[in-house]
Amino acid sequence: MTASDPTAFTSQLRNLRQTRRFSDRAVPDDVLNELLEVARWSGSSKNTQPWHFIVVTNSELRKQIAEAGPFAGFLESAPVVIVLVMAGSNPRSEPYDEGRVSERLMLAADAHGLGAGTGWFAPDDGGERRVKELLGVPDGMVIRSALGVGYPDATDPRPRGVSGGRKPLSEIVSRERYGG
Ligand SMILES: Cc1cc2nc3c(=O)[nH]c(=O)nc-3n(C[C@H](O)[C@H](O)[C@H](O)COP(=O)(O)O)c2cc1C
Repeated sequence: MTASDPTAFTSQLRNLRQTRRFSDRAVPDDVLNELLEVARWSGSSKNTQPWHFIVVTNSELRKQIAEAGPFAGFLESAPVVIVLVMAGSNPRSEPYDEGRVSERLMLAADAHGLGAGTGWFAPDDGGERRVKELLGVPDGMVIRSALGVGYPDATDPRPRGVSGGRKPLSEIVSRERYGG
């Protein structure tokens, strides 16, 4: 796709949005597996691959996970929740690696007609601890986020384009020197 029509690909990148409303339609196993392969092949700092992915489909568990984040309630309606468990070995590079793999999962989901969205858990309000308890994740590992994946609810327009708003390039890009 990138070689024959690069703007089709960059357009997909520009329009990717967070999905928060999902239909009940199940995610086929082969599609889920393809997403997990994309995650597996994501690059990471020094190729440490500091991640483990817990795929949660059980509805009660999804509900409990959704309740652990202040803005993660939407995860309950996602038929698949992928919890990103990070190794906890490098606090500087691992959040970067987590962002990379999250975005790739979102793009892969989009390519298959699925939507995906990040839900966040923080240590200070006990959200991270709660999710670790629920899923039996050892101390020392880190859970910051989970990705809800599913077919978007047909009544959800899945906002695209500029409706969410973005800063103009003139505000976020400098040439040669900061502010230049
Ligand atoms: C680190 C991070 C944490 C996020 N946490 C949440 C969250 O807990 N709940 C949520 O609804 N969206 C969450 N989001 C999604 C952002 O709110 C969303 O990407 C942003 O508002 C842009 O909206 P858009 O994706 O519709 O363009 C998170 C995104 C990132 C990158």
